[in-house]
Amino acid sequence: MHPEKSAKKQGVETARVLSGIQPTGRIHWGNYFGAIRQCIDLQTAGEAFYFIADLHALTTLHEPARLRSLVHDAAVDLVALGLDPERATLFVQSDVPEVTELAWLLMTVTPMGLLERCHAYKDKKVKGLTADAGLFTYPVLMSADILAYDATVVPVGEDQVQHIEVCRDLAGAFNHLYGPVFTLPKPRLVEGSARVPGTDGQKMSKSYNNTLDIFADPATQKKKIGRITTDSRPVEEPKNPEEDHLYQLYSLVATPADRLAMADLYRRGGFGYGEVKKAILEAATNFFAAAHSRRGEIEGDAGRIEGILAAGALRARAKAQEVLARAKLACGLTRVKMPGRPV
Ligand code: ADP
Ligand code: TRP
Repeated sequence: MHPEKSAKKQGVETARVLSGIQPTGRIHWGNYFGAIRQCIDLQTAGEAFYFIADLHALTTLHEPARLRSLVHDAAVDLVALGLDPERATLFVQSDVPEVTELAWLLMTVTPMGLLERCHAYKDKKVKGLTADAGLFTYPVLMSADILAYDATVVPVGEDQVQHIEVCRDLAGAFNHLYGPVFTLPKPRLVEGSARVPGTDGQKMSKSYNNTLDIFADPATQKKKIGRITTDSRPVEEPKNPEEDHLYQLYSLVATPADRLAMADLYRRGGFGYGEVKKAILEAATNFFAAAHSRRGEIEGDAGRIEGILAAGALRARAKAQEVLARAKLACGLTRVKMPGRPV
């Protein structure tokens, strides 16, 4: 049997994993439990490409010094959280210019209506805000990010699934016109934390100012946990843990045994939310202790981080160049196929 077929049959097909994170603020629990943790788990599942999406960040962030420092912080944070640059290719999006060229090719097969339905643009329009073409075409650049590396698996939180659907549509449209150029990717969600709640119970997001940041200093973290919203039901009343965002946040960082004990306490009643908040702070401190100490070791070593990003960009570019060349050849932008004409 063909080796690839037999691998597929046994379900051991190796994945090419890819994900990106925008450097628009410090990494929060939603980013970590929704996406980054599975990226780290998957870095041994096959080839892995992870990048810091600075081009996407330009759609909302217009402060050069802040952008530069957030890109650096994101790289330090990811390595501190366990991303291993020996196993995964870690790079900065704008270091691979092939992606923006590919985005243009995809733009020519993108129906306007498809982008009009995408939530980042739609939400802004509904609020009466003016959106620029960068935000409107955001999903096309994201599609290029994914297709440039022949990614098969894209670990993300729930909010990004729509963009991956767009990516599949565009890849399908291009392939339909020009032949099998692009590999169609699939999103990968983590059950239970595809939508981590913020301190106000809505989806945790940098744009809602409701985040718990992983590397916040202890005093800020304590203050933020203290401000998690709660309801006003009496202490004695039994409560359903699954319906409470305080419990959901606790369960992300608690040990399995502590989580079960807390769920029991909820069902029995007779506890105050203050106790739960104290438990969250303690559990989070333990959960992220190793990452904090690793961050302490690497944060001062800017040369090391820059070296990791430079090596990552080289590897990423080599792959993106290969895919871009394939796409250009297929759609007629390269003349090598013309008989009698020099390359
Ligand atoms: P934000 O919404 O704070 O700007 P990003 O858009 O930069 O976060 O998200 C980076 C990654 O983290 C994406 O894969 C996204 O789906 C995931 N993510 C962000 N917020 C959450 C959340 N509250 N729950 C689960 N995943 C999330
Ligand atoms: N849009 C993603 C976010 O806001 C970031 C991102 C950009 C991304 N390009 C990507 C994620 C490609 C996965 C794959 O979170």
